[in-house]
Amino acid sequence: MAAISETIAPAARQEHLRPFDIRRDLREVADLVELCFAETLDPDGRDYLARLRSTARSSSWVGRARGWANAPMSGFVWQEDGQIVGNASLIPYLLQGQRCYLIANVAVHPDYRLRGIGRMLTEKSIEFARNKHAPAAWLHVREDNPAARNLYLSLGFQEKAMRTTWVANPDHIPPGKASGIQITTLKNRYWTVMKEWLRRSYPDELAWHSWFRLNNLRPGWLGVISRFLNNAYVIQWAALRQGRLAAGAAWQSTWSYANAIWLAAPERGADEAVQFLLQHIRRSSPTRRAVALEYPAGRYAEAIQEAGFREQQTLVWMKLKL
Ligand SMILES: CC(C)(COP(=O)(O)OP(=O)(O)OC[C@H]1O[C@@H](n2cnc3c(N)ncnc32)[C@H](O)[C@@H]1OP(=O)(O)O)[C@@H](O)C(=O)NCCC(=O)NCCS
Repeated sequence: MAAISETIAPAARQEHLRPFDIRRDLREVADLVELCFAETLDPDGRDYLARLRSTARSSSWVGRARGWANAPMSGFVWQEDGQIVGNASLIPYLLQGQRCYLIANVAVHPDYRLRGIGRMLTEKSIEFARNKHAPAAWLHVREDNPAARNLYLSLGFQEKAMRTTWVANPDHIPPGKASGIQITTLKNRYWTVMKEWLRRSYPDELAWHSWFRLNNLRPGWLGVISRFLNNAYVIQWAALRQGRLAAGAAWQSTWSYANAIWLAAPERGADEAVQFLLQHIRRSSPTRRAVALEYPAGRYAEAIQEAGFREQQTLVWMKLKL
């Protein structure tokens, strides 16, 4: 904090830092986020920003109200020289019945960096979450972003998990060759083991933001009902070695730029089964769209690459207990 006080006097902070106001700030914030994340936005991120902009432009109340439902409602902006040059959004979500906050879109215009603005926006967001009695604030940051990682570490965040998103296009599917691996559809009798592997790979505190719902993957009637209620289209396979489950996976249709794969495997020792299974899913998936697999970073990385996936990004998930 000493460095900040030296660069920006307290009075100036009051003047520049204020709560985000969706009615007037949406377009400027979308522009700033796009500028600051231009090199790393995926197609979903670009779509999201385009929707925010079109909501901001909409002249009808109905159009704006609909768009606001998907826009960040809380957060803070830094306004200087008549423009918004800094932003931090707060996204509330429920985890085991408690309201937590994800701090997202922390962005400072390149001309205004290294003056303590990013730190003050993040501190203000933490204070907001604390005042709401949230048990924790979370954020995620790209592994290759040391500036932001340093900032969050210095504010007390701890690195809890690293997750890689792997993407495979529908072309270039290498022929699968695996000795002794048999692929079948998922049977009830494999579920107890598969459920445990899925729980470990997609824990609630990391998976809440994704399409992953454990109940959607259950075999039997409970799964059918859950998929019906959640409008989820899922296909599942099991890879067997000598009649025992070596790995399992589910393919799920999404509205995103890529369909999703959820991989269930022990922590190690199933490389061949994982590779063969992923190749099989790519060949058998009912649509010619890309598929994305989010998985703990480093785990089965070689097998996943051998199956034709490329790393899109690795995110560090950070938590601050409040
Ligand atoms: C990350 C970002 C928000 C930092 O904003 P900023 O206003 O420049 O940051 P601050 O001046 O408040 O710096 C706070 C701390 O961040 C770290 N930091 C910021 N820039 C850094 C850099 N280029 N290299 C290393 N550390 C850096 C330092 O730990 C710094 O601590 P200090 O105050 O003791 O020097 C800004 O660089 C940015 O918008 N980057 C692009 C978007 C982005 O990556 N956002 C984070 C997504 S999770």
